[in-house]
Amino acid sequence: MIELKAYTAFVEQHLQTLNIPEKPQQLYDPIRYFLTIGGKRVRPILTLLGAELFGDAKETAISQALAIEIFHNFTLVHDDIMDEAPLRRNQPTVHEKWNSNIGILSGDVMLIHAYQHLGKIAGEKLPEAFELFNRTAIEVCEGQQFDMDFEERDDVSIHEYIEMIRLKTSVLLGCALELGAIVAGAGEDDKKSLYAFGQHIGLAFQIQDDILDLYADPEKFGKQVGGDVIANKKTILQLTAASKASPEQLEILRQLKDEQDNEIKVNRTRELFDHLNIRQDCQARMEEHYELAQQALKRINVPEENKKPLLSLASFLMNREV
Ligand code: IPE
Ligand code: IPE
Ligand code: MG
Ligand code: MG
Ligand code: MG
Repeated sequence: MIELKAYTAFVEQHLQTLNIPEKPQQLYDPIRYFLTIGGKRVRPILTLLGAELFGDAKETAISQALAIEIFHNFTLVHDDIMDEAPLRRNQPTVHEKWNSNIGILSGDVMLIHAYQHLGKIAGEKLPEAFELFNRTAIEVCEGQQFDMDFEERDDVSIHEYIEMIRLKTSVLLGCALELGAIVAGAGEDDKKSLYAFGQHIGLAFQIQDDILDLYADPEKFGKQVGGDVIANKKTILQLTAASKASPEQLEILRQLKDEQDNEIKVNRTRELFDHLNIRQDCQARMEEHYELAQQALKRINVPEENKKPLLSLASFLMNREV
């Protein structure tokens, strides 16, 4: 295992020293709060590792790494409003601690801050970085809309689900890595393979996120366990269960959607999923994408030694509890 801690500390140190203004307090306090209550910092680390893969020092990609992390945090502040989530990183979400209007506006400023950091790249690389970042940002919004549309639908296929999570989650991991590669001046084929690695890691990551949402240890998780069930999300657990359930079990699942007592709703859903071995099925699907990610990384034309940190990060992600 590489010292991921050193990378986390490096990102953390830069986040702590961002010059976020004092006033208006209601605009900037939530930003300071959200950026400093923790988080795994996976995406900025991917940017740093993406640059290192092609021989650059991690310092060269720090601004782009910060851009990605600030953008990610913006999406989380708005996602928590959309998902009506009470908890994030073991702390109240911004709309809970303040209110939704404050969450919307401080999120907006974070998005602009992200662009300010992204722009601190060598001039000749700016168009490519912008093009990638813009495309990604739009795709994330598309994924978020599909995610919400799916709450109301009962005929969502696994194929549609995979496309939805590719958009809402994977493209940002791919973008994080590719930005690092752009900073380091990598070749076109290598950038494509690295992006493909990010896509599969991202799919595995979101499948894991769905599993954890119902099965994480509440003491460690930092988010509301069962939040997806409460919000009637079409997660990989839900869709896999629907594909295996008997007509009677399907009827139970349908009735649970309208259950008003959240504790009963979450516990009964979990019991039914356990009965159908859903967690194991989803775990296997996650591992398939992990495997495909490793294959994509193999195609990159750099010494195998350089790939170890990325493999190490990927394996850390597959085994995470948070
Ligand atoms: C949460 O991302 C949103 C998803 C795409 C699942 P993370 O699990 O990386 O959240 P933090 O940044 O570590 O809190
Ligand atoms: C997150 O999906 C996707 C984005 C924030 C774009 P989720 O809604 O599953 O993320 P969590 O579980 O709240 O972190
Ligand atoms: Mg969401
Ligand atoms: Mg959410
Ligand atoms: Mg989730």
